[in-house]
Amino acid sequence: MPNITLERALQSLKLAAVLDVGCGCGGHSTRTLLELCDRVVAIDVAPRLARWHEIAQSSKARFCCMDALALGFPCDSFPLVVEPATLHHIAHWPDALTEMLRVSSDSILLQEPVDDLRSAAKQRTFEAQGLFLSLQAEVGFAHYRHLTRDAIFSALEGRAVIAETQLETSDAPVSFDEFFESFDVFASQSGRKEYWLDKLQIMRAKFAGAPLCEDDTLTIWATKRTSR
Ligand SMILES: C[S@@+](CC[C@H](N)C(=O)[O-])C[C@H]1O[C@@H](n2cnc3c(N)ncnc32)[C@H](O)[C@@H]1O
Repeated sequence: MPNITLERALQSLKLAAVLDVGCGCGGHSTRTLLELCDRVVAIDVAPRLARWHEIAQSSKARFCCMDALALGFPCDSFPLVVEPATLHHIAHWPDALTEMLRVSSDSILLQEPVDDLRSAAKQRTFEAQGLFLSLQAEVGFAHYRHLTRDAIFSALEGRAVIAETQLETSDAPVSFDEFFESFDVFASQSGRKEYWLDKLQIMRAKFAGAPLCEDDTLTIWATKRTSR
């Protein structure tokens, strides 16, 4: 997630340690953070241990299996707490935001995909996402519609001051097959695989080879109201 706002936040805080909330396998956000600061504590509710071990051996990262809704750290533990694309995987994401603010002594940095239906490709992507999310909901995989800028701002209101926002737009095409690459894996977990594969074929026919699109990414750097 190389990003000017992130780099500025890290430079301004001269960080000892950053908390990476929802680090996944550690191969993306944690690795990027390690290039920019001295120590990273990375948490995820679903540990991807193989990659964690690989990264931990060669770096200053500590990994913990932990729920963002109940961070096991005292208040004000980290100058910067980041969440790279994690909140839209949490049904009660404002509660995770509250936890991030609690354990941060200064700043939080949110990095979320956002929707903007400005083109036919974006509209197809939104529709395709809806199908995928319905399947994922059925098999119990936590993944929800992208948050909006307004919803995030409203959740921060009164508790944090926005220091900087950055919107990275992308209209890069994504093929139908690439977008739905893992659909079959999720469909296999449901009790009605054929039903979902039929739905997919109907959508494929409707889109007739037209591409989908990469997401835009919104980055928000906010400081705790009490910290400055
Ligand atoms: C889109 S992935 C982002 C992974 C990583 N940050 C990256 O840059 O590749 C979202 C991650 O959030 C994690 N997640 C979902 N709900 C969570 C929760 N309640 N607490 C902690 N992590 C959670 C998922 O397990 C997943 O690894």
